[in-house]
Amino acid sequence: MNLSRITLRPLKLSDVDDFMVVAGDDRVTRYTRWNTFVSREQALTFIRDHQHPWTRAICVDDVTIGYVSVSPGSGDDRCRAEIGCYIATDYWGQGIATEATKIAASQVFKDLPGLVRLQAFVAVENKASQRVLEKAGFLREAILKRYAYVKGMIKDVAIFSLVLQDTHSSSL
Ligand SMILES: CC(C)(COP(=O)(O)OP(=O)(O)OC[C@H]1O[C@@H](n2cnc3c(N)ncnc32)[C@H](O)[C@@H]1OP(=O)(O)O)[C@@H](O)C(=O)NCCC(=O)NCCS
Repeated sequence: MNLSRITLRPLKLSDVDDFMVVAGDDRVTRYTRWNTFVSREQALTFIRDHQHPWTRAICVDDVTIGYVSVSPGSGDDRCRAEIGCYIATDYWGQGIATEATKIAASQVFKDLPGLVRLQAFVAVENKASQRVLEKAGFLREAILKRYAYVKGMIKDVAIFSLVLQDTHSSSL
């Protein structure tokens, strides 16, 4: 994959069918805490109402093949945000998630006031996601034992972070 073909942009309502290829696939949602989307209407609602504050379509040649979502904390927790990345199975293993994560990380530190830490929680079985985060420069900080239920199963979860080292917290 020529990485210059990968771009991020807001999801459009016209992306709904491409979005369903991602969010409607049980293989994509295997380790996610959210369930597989079951209808086009559900996808339309997500695109219309739940993109804020920071969700972007991951596009190859401007066709949506995945998405990345960043959820910032508020108030005193505005220093951190959580990132998640989801790619259609036909496109796995081509470096797309790694590139998209790098692009998203560099952009959210500019877009979200006070943000100094981007973090991700990943089920320890989700090796591909952990590899993506490592390749994108995140640090594996810890394993959180028996941290969360995922599809009814209790999971150990790895926590990864990417932090801005040279910011002055008192001024943010
Ligand atoms: C995780 C996911 C985003 C990765 O997307 P991708 O575009 O295939 O990722 P990349 O190609 O950039 O990198 C994948 C890396 O994982 C590695 N990998 C894949 N499966 C693996 C496994 N079972 N064990 C170890 N490494 C694995 C690949 O070899 C590659 O590493 P490499 O470049 O060193 O060879 C994609 O698999 C996905 O959408 N999964 C479902 C959603 C999900 O779990 N998202 C994470 C929630 S935060």
